[in-house]
This record gives sequence, structure tokens and C-alpha cells, in this order.
Amino acid sequence: MLTGELVTLRPIEPDDYLALADFANDVELELLGGGDPPTPTPQASVAAMYEQQRENPDSINFAITANEAAGKLIGQCGLWRHDQLGRTVELGITIGVREYWGRGYGREAVALLVGYAFRLRNMRKVHLSVHANNTRAIRSYTAAGFVEEGRLREHVWSDGAYVDLVLMGRLRRPEDDLLPA
Ligand SMILES: CC(C)(COP(=O)(O)OP(=O)(O)OC[C@H]1O[C@@H](n2cnc3c(N)ncnc32)[C@H](O)[C@@H]1OP(=O)(O)O)[C@@H](O)C(=O)NCCC(=O)NCCS
Repeated sequence: MLTGELVTLRPIEPDDYLALADFANDVELELLGGGDPPTPTPQASVAAMYEQQRENPDSINFAITANEAAGKLIGQCGLWRHDQLGRTVELGITIGVREYWGRGYGREAVALLVGYAFRLRNMRKVHLSVHANNTRAIRSYTAAGFVEEGRLREHVWSDGAYVDLVLMGRLRRPEDDLLPA
């Protein structure tokens, strides 16, 4: 549906649930992703969650696929908590296949999502939260135009320590309304 040089963002299909369940049960991924502590999650629960979210207009989920690998699923991303008054929305992303980390796939997926939020959903700001020790994610978001807006100190218990929760945001700029060449 949204195609870049490296990745395509397309709808999540039932055939994806097995891989998405693997991501959901990967402790390192879950710790990096934040949110609830890692919890054993059967494939049926993952399927039920995505089926439920598909009916919820406030959750827009995409599968991330690698163009070079014939559309192999490498992660998922999405937009949640649309605030129609302030026109803000929250972004989340997981690339679950480690060989695709640190190669620019994340920033391109984020850029595609941000473009979707601005041009197709008329949002004016995309925001997210990230653990302060997740340097790779923070650098990827920074490369996609996000800036730190604040941090909640020692806000998260993660893997035996309290870590800061960094709040980042990306405001819409006039050039965001131009279609990519
Ligand atoms: C976070 C994530 C989406 C980023 O996508 P990505 O494709 O890996 O990141 P990018 O290639 O766009 O950017 C990575 C940046 O981190 C740097 N980096 C790479 N490996 C790193 C490492 N081990 N430690 C710190 N920085 C690292 C890269 O140099 C690059 O920064 P630069 O552009 O300033 O040089 C992806 O790594 C991921 O899904 N990780 C697991 C789950 C997760 O952390 N989700 C985010 C929760 S908020």
C-alpha cells in the first residue's frame, strides 16, 4: 500500500500471525518495544488482537515487508490514539528480523507512516515514546525528523532497572505536503 525503496507497508493478513507471534514472544524485542512486560502470548491471542484492532478506526496497523526479499515480513508498525481535535497521533514500530536492524529500514518505514499520517489523514503531529537506553531507535527516529520533547525520569521498569521514557515528536512542515518526486 505504501512503497519505499527498501520497504513496503501493507495490510496485516492472517498468514502473518505466526511471525507476529514470534515477535511478540521475543523477550529482547518486547523489552526494546516498551509497553507491558514480556508475557507468553499464544498465536491465537495475537490473531485476536489484530482482528479486533482491524475493526477499530483508531488503530491503523501495517505489516513491514522487505522489497529485496520478495515481500518477506520483517516487522509491523502502526498509528494509534488519533486526537482529531489536536490532530496528533502516536506511532509504534517493531522490526522483528534482526538482520534488518541498522540498515535504514526503520527510518524509511517511519517516514512512510509519517507521510501517510500527514497527507492522507491530515494529522499535524506524530509522536512516540521510547526507552532512553534504546539508542538505535532514538537515532532512527531522529533521522526521520523527530526531536526529543521531554522525558519522564526513571519512569519504566525494564529488565531489572528503571529507565527514562523519552517523548519524541515530529511536527508537520510545509514540505511534508509535497508528494515525493
Ligand atoms: C527501532 C527500529 C525500528 C529502528 O529501525 P532500524 O532500521 O534498525 O534503524 P535505522 O537503520 O533507521 O537507524 C539506526 C540508527 O542507529 C544506529 N545504530 C545501529 N546499530 C546500533 C546499535 N547497536 N546501538 C546504537 N545505535 C545503533 C545507526 O548507525 C543509525 O543511526 P545514524 O543514522 O545516526 O547512523 C528497529 O531497530 C527495531 O524495530 N528494533 C527492535 C524494536 C524496537 O526497538 N522498537 C522501537 C520501540 S520505541
